[in-house]
Amino acid sequence: MSDYTVNLLWVLLIASFGFSAFAILLSISRQRRGRATAAAYTPSEDVASEAARKVLREFEKNGQSADAALVTWSPDTLRKILADDLPDAQVIVVSNREPYIHNIKDDGVQLLVPASGLVSALEPITRACAGTWIAYGGGTADRLTVDKDDRVQVPPGNPSYTLRRVWLTEEEYQGYYLGFANEGLWPLCHIAFTRPVFRASDWDAYEAVNRKFADTVVAEARNERPIVLVQDYHFALLPRMIRQRLPDAIVITFWHIPWPNSEVFSICPWRERILEGLLGSSIIGFHTQFHANNFTESVDRFLESRIERADAAISYGGQTTLVHAYPISIEWPAQLLAKLPSVEECRASVRDRFGLSTDTKLCVGVERLDYTKGILDRFHALDELFTRYPEWIGKVVFLQIAAPSRGTLPAYQQLHDECRRYAEELNRRYGSETYSPILMVAEHHRQEQVYEVYRAADICMVTSLHDGMNLVAKEFVAARDDEQGVLLLSTFAGASRELLEALIVNPYDAAMMSEALLQALTMTPDEQRERLRPMREMVRDNNVYRWAGSMLLDAARLRKRGDLDRVTGTGERPPSNTNNVISMFERARKAAS
Ligand code: F6P
Repeated sequence: MSDYTVNLLWVLLIASFGFSAFAILLSISRQRRGRATAAAYTPSEDVASEAARKVLREFEKNGQSADAALVTWSPDTLRKILADDLPDAQVIVVSNREPYIHNIKDDGVQLLVPASGLVSALEPITRACAGTWIAYGGGTADRLTVDKDDRVQVPPGNPSYTLRRVWLTEEEYQGYYLGFANEGLWPLCHIAFTRPVFRASDWDAYEAVNRKFADTVVAEARNERPIVLVQDYHFALLPRMIRQRLPDAIVITFWHIPWPNSEVFSICPWRERILEGLLGSSIIGFHTQFHANNFTESVDRFLESRIERADAAISYGGQTTLVHAYPISIEWPAQLLAKLPSVEECRASVRDRFGLSTDTKLCVGVERLDYTKGILDRFHALDELFTRYPEWIGKVVFLQIAAPSRGTLPAYQQLHDECRRYAEELNRRYGSETYSPILMVAEHHRQEQVYEVYRAADICMVTSLHDGMNLVAKEFVAARDDEQGVLLLSTFAGASRELLEALIVNPYDAAMMSEALLQALTMTPDEQRERLRPMREMVRDNNVYRWAGSMLLDAARLRKRGDLDRVTGTGERPPSNTNNVISMFERARKAAS
């Protein structure tokens, strides 16, 4: 080949790459614009409901994800779905953590909203559905604030749903919550290299408490067909217990933490029981497809079941369960933003509170004090930054807000001690009489206070070693209506699958994290805006109403199909992706029987 031909080929190759890249960029920008336009337009209630119904029709027609259509998701959309597609359905939420805790304090009863992603996501949903929320009553004044049926109307001052409290003995709490849930399942599901502890006595307590909650669900159900939203790893056995007592209920279970691969899962002595329990659900949701796949693999490995991967369905013991990814989100628009002062005022008041000069760069971290959150790794990154770029000493402060959590467990006490020691050491090494690079506030903060801190920050660090989603990342993005601030986000948090414009980091790599910190510290306001804007669109368009709405639409589809089966006498059959055509598998089963 002549030089001329070779050069020509190169030119053509490069031009074709360039063209492809341009086409991809154009299509991304169109998609983004599409999303933005759809969301900027606020349709009337009827249009919203019509759009939601259209999603359902599309979904039923071709089995595609309900997420496919553009709808502005709001409390009204959820109410419409319930009214139109799940008429008379009573929504019951079950979680361990309650949304409102009453505690006795010196000056009377104090109300506490716990630091919990689960609570911040489920609370607006339960409000919108006017449902019943069943949870463990762990506050010291909880018994004083309920009626004779252990119920209290919430939110206080503006009640819109019922909180039904369940009481646990000290022994139950120790075994079920601290023991099996938090020393067993929590480390099992997170790759954070903390050894899970499995005790038979904890398992017994876990089973007994799940049964207690099943009794409460049955007691609270107004009819045979409630929609029960079971939350998290505290209740792996509950779905089947509900199914046995209320066979026509729709049970939607959401697993808020990662699901490990089947090799890791196999170390749990009660693995089959956990899987069987969960497969009592109509739908099991995870934050990411990866975790949904891990779950399906675990079932495949340990239970005699029928798995239809194309349909994301598992049939076990006469029950079919859909296994889907539903990425959780936050309320949008965040109601409390309207009550907060401007970003300038938040910056001034937070800097004033901590004695920081106006030009100090403020990095923040906000979470429960938990070993999965990578708090020590953040301190390492700061240490590394100061070692590599000493000119930043004195100019950056890292504020860690760490809500105390599970504090009686040894792993948590150890983490607390290590964080305190490392912070003191860094402050000794790099600080002065007037400067402490690390401020650690290990106490509970109200949501308004947390949002004030987000708005005051230059950088927010979310460096989880492993996390289902991580709503702090989304909250930070939502809090910054000034489109300023930089998000450093762990690649091991589910949120990194959606917030693509964050600075994505590996928290185990201190050198990489320090470079990302430097990039964040020196980022221009224009680039901050360029990155925040699409992330804000993403959270706005995929808010928590969409999360719940997608599951409710799926539930409506299942209910309709179940009703149809009852009428036609076909009984239980797997959901099919193929326009109600019975799958090959099902035909084979029918032919054999
Ligand atoms: O991340 C899992 C999770 O259950 C969250 O949903 C919730 O924010 C947190 O853990 C609550 O922890 P706890 O109720 O033990 O304080």
